[in-house]
Amino acid sequence: MSKEIVVSGIRSTGFLHLGNYFGAMRNYVKMQEDYNCYFFVADYHSLTTHPDPKDLRGNVYRVVAENIAAGLDPDKVALYAQSDLPEIPELYLMLNMLAYKGELEKVPTFKDKVRQQPENVNAGLLTYPVLMTADILIHKAVKVPVGKDQEQHIEMARNFAGRFNGRYGELFPEPQPFNFGDTLVKVPSLDGAGKMSKSEHGNATLYLADEDDAIRKKVMKAKTDSGPTEHNSTMPEYIQNVFQLMNLVSTSEITESYRAAYNGCTIRYGDMKKQLAEDMVNFIRPIREKAVALQADETKMMAVLRHGAEKARESASRTISEARKLIGINYY
Ligand code: TRP
Repeated sequence: MSKEIVVSGIRSTGFLHLGNYFGAMRNYVKMQEDYNCYFFVADYHSLTTHPDPKDLRGNVYRVVAENIAAGLDPDKVALYAQSDLPEIPELYLMLNMLAYKGELEKVPTFKDKVRQQPENVNAGLLTYPVLMTADILIHKAVKVPVGKDQEQHIEMARNFAGRFNGRYGELFPEPQPFNFGDTLVKVPSLDGAGKMSKSEHGNATLYLADEDDAIRKKVMKAKTDSGPTEHNSTMPEYIQNVFQLMNLVSTSEITESYRAAYNGCTIRYGDMKKQLAEDMVNFIRPIREKAVALQADETKMMAVLRHGAEKARESASRTISEARKLIGINYY
């Protein structure tokens, strides 16, 4: 039986953090065994915010290196840069003729951008979901691993796919958002509230690129208090968060011993955080070191991207010729 097709795009701006690791990246790594996966760096999407041209190559290498360091195998999946597939902008252009200004203006992520960067409300921002649709449909993907914030974009992709099929003939399956449901782990922020995310103040977020000392410093600053005064009392959320982080990187014996100390009111948060900091350092260090080494190996990075582009173009060129034919663009 042929494997189901999976596509997902990775943003090329910003550093990957622990939330990305336990959210998206670990899902990618699990999926590479059982699905036919296409994972790409969304460098065209990043142009909507006008990045400095001299940053692009470094950003793309970094994202590719970090994903490989986290366990993605470029021999198992097609790992490529979006801009290496000219078929994507071609399909994007075709789909733009089926996407309406009114529906695009209503998209919440677009409205957010209008608020954030009122001086740069370009057409690329407006049609961001159309480019995403092209990314997905170019390989006829049926599953798209994304976070909650992207599900509306996938719904639009289903609409555009249906509209294309209705107008020109059946070509695209309708893609579904995909996550591992229960196995999705929450990675809490270090400031006691909410999830770890690309925050303004980098102190509440652990990045895969953080040096050992930066990791220690951030963990030691995590919010705690003077400790429980009654046996078996309920944990405040910020203490639950420290335990949750420990669950991710420490052994269960260690976590359980601190839980018992909490219940018996003998816990010392300073010691707990020192332990967590060391376990965190041991968890992040090998990923960081592998990523740094890969990123510095330009020959390797180029080979990975070239190889990924070749694999991805096979399926992209097939789809685009079918789309051209259905639309009527076949003159000789
Ligand atoms: N918009 C996605 C994000 O911000 C990245 C992305 C671009 C993507 N194209 C995609 C995700 C296609 C899934 C499928 O995270």
